[in-house]
Amino acid sequence: MKKYTILLVCSVAAIVLLGLLANSINAKEDERKELLNTHADIINPIFSSEWQRYYPREYDSWKQTKENKRLEDMVKKWPQLAVVWAGYPFSKDYNAPRGHYYAVQDNVNTLRVAAPGVPNSSVQSPLPTACWTCKSPDVVRLMETKGDMEYYTGKWDKWGSEIVNTIGCYDCHKADTAELKVGRKYLNTGLVAAGLSTFEESTHQTKRDLVCAQCHSEYYFRGTKYEDGKTAMVVTLPWKDGLKADDMMKYYDEGANFPDGKPFADFVNKISKTPIVKAQHPDYELHTTGIHGKKGVSCADCHMPYTQEGAVKFSDHRVQNPLRTMDRSCMTCHRESEAKLKAVVKEKYDRKESLFAITVDNLAKAHLEAGKAWEVGADEAEMKSVLNLIRQGQWRWDYAVASHGGFFHAPDETLYTLAKANDYAQQARVALVAVLAKHGVSNYSAPDFDTKDKAQKLAGLDMKTLIAEKLEFKKTLEQEWLKQAKENGRLDEKIRDYKDDVSSYFGEAK
Ligand code: HEC
Ligand code: HEC
Ligand code: HEC
Ligand code: HEC
Repeated sequence: MKKYTILLVCSVAAIVLLGLLANSINAKEDERKELLNTHADIINPIFSSEWQRYYPREYDSWKQTKENKRLEDMVKKWPQLAVVWAGYPFSKDYNAPRGHYYAVQDNVNTLRVAAPGVPNSSVQSPLPTACWTCKSPDVVRLMETKGDMEYYTGKWDKWGSEIVNTIGCYDCHKADTAELKVGRKYLNTGLVAAGLSTFEESTHQTKRDLVCAQCHSEYYFRGTKYEDGKTAMVVTLPWKDGLKADDMMKYYDEGANFPDGKPFADFVNKISKTPIVKAQHPDYELHTTGIHGKKGVSCADCHMPYTQEGAVKFSDHRVQNPLRTMDRSCMTCHRESEAKLKAVVKEKYDRKESLFAITVDNLAKAHLEAGKAWEVGADEAEMKSVLNLIRQGQWRWDYAVASHGGFFHAPDETLYTLAKANDYAQQARVALVAVLAKHGVSNYSAPDFDTKDKAQKLAGLDMKTLIAEKLEFKKTLEQEWLKQAKENGRLDEKIRDYKDDVSSYFGEAK
């Protein structure tokens, strides 16, 4: 009898436990379903704060990109940049990337977009509207409501009161179902040109790369005539011949690829007169050439790792340096210790930095030596091949380093590209010795550019004036833009905190 009682108690206990387990599985399943529910009633999908009530974990972690606030003045770190970019807005001001929270703020603050609206300012609004493209879901809204042509026509300041909310949910998700999407058409155009599947045709894992590739890619602004004769500057991905630095240079060098029939250049270096292609941030392209990309590891696997909270698994939306989340970003696949893996990454970084320094130094000297050659009477025929060597070298150097994570994403491609870049720069310098000698100059030594101040002077910049004008813009037109955005209900006031407004030159104003 006693035996049966024990059996009965055990069975009941087992049934209760099973019931509890089933309940918890159901609860988990319900939460997952809830996540994928249709939320057509999100009032304004551009406001990331409105997604919070449905997706609190994604929202909370997304908001934490605000914690990645470190500003790093790259021109201060590498004064050579002002020389190699002389004549281009990047020589004025360039900071390393930080959290997505700051995308709009940093775009408005950079000296590159200058000081529109300030009476008599030295440059009004030099850049096209396209400079907003990777900063905000307002861009997707404008593309959807006004059309690409209207969005891409005009100067940057045209959209000052319209583009005010930083990179948010609507940049990567459909509003009703939160499925991944890309709202920027140029990505599919580029994928097709490269012979790859469009976003919609891609696997789910590839989509976890492609939402990032909307912005973390190399691009150029293609002057495009529309029916009514207006010219729009359209973001275009130079992927027709492939996704590597050599492939893209081939594309840029081929005049037939461009409406004016000439090889492409973003600017002509003011010192050496070299037509330069400025590399943007080919993170996606480099990633596809590295071991993780080849093995199908996606950007989101490392930068948005899955995180368990109670019964719910969600993607950590605090996009940041994955070395801060190694337990979730790396240890899911790797067996070695975190410290060991970190040391491997550090070594890759140091090697890149070392080649970066050698190469950019040679490039800066090549520009200055070419400048000297022009000064002492060299002619176009003598300089043509020299300038091409500088162009080839600078493109490859920039390509390898403008993607700040490239040294890790694709160490081989990065070091290979840097080595070639340095070789081109050296060849240019050797050739310049001969050109200079022909014009009676021997042992020429380029002037010092070892501080930001010296280098920006060589680039012909009057920084005091540029900064003063910019600060005036911030007091006047920027305030007007914000006022208009608020009055028209376009600013998600729950998100942006104007107290944290800062940029690298604020301290240099005095
Ligand atoms: C830069 C692109 C990007 C932004 C911005 C972004 N997400 Fe995501 N989101 C992703 C990716 C990538 C995934 C992973 C998708 C997958 O594997 O199914 C994801 C997954 C999700 C999921 C599915 C569940 C999960 O956590 O994996 C939800 C819900 C979601 N995001 C909501 C949001 C919300 C809300 C915001 C704004 C506060 C937001 N996302 C902003 C890229 C983004
Ligand atoms: C709408 C354009 C856009 C999309 C989409 C986007 N990014 Fe970014 N990302 C940026 C911009 C712009 C910055 C620099 C912001 C700044 O410095 O103000 C940035 C910065 C970063 C940084 C530096 C963050 C830090 O803390 O230093 C990382 C890492 C990054 N992005 C990874 C990703 C990944 C991974 C994805 C896809 C899941 C992604 N981004 C999608 C535009 C975008
Ligand atoms: C295997 C993991 C992994 C994958 C996959 C990956 N990344 Fe990274 N990424 C890293 C690591 C690690 C770093 C930081 C290296 C460092 O600075 O120490 C990094 C750095 C970056 C940076 C520079 C951040 C900064 O502040 O300097 C950006 C931007 C970035 N990644 C974007 C991407 C994009 C976009 C993709 C997909 C196309 C991607 N990453 C794929 C691991 C990864
Ligand atoms: C989804 C799985 C996965 C994740 C996540 C992942 N890795 Fe890897 N990693 C791999 C694979 C696979 C290889 C290639 C190994 C091989 O083929 O020998 C690799 C190779 C490496 C290598 C050596 C390759 C080289 O470029 O020299 C390093 C270093 C590395 N991973 C670091 C990291 C770090 C750091 C993280 C996190 C930020 C990370 N991995 C995340 C799968 C992953």
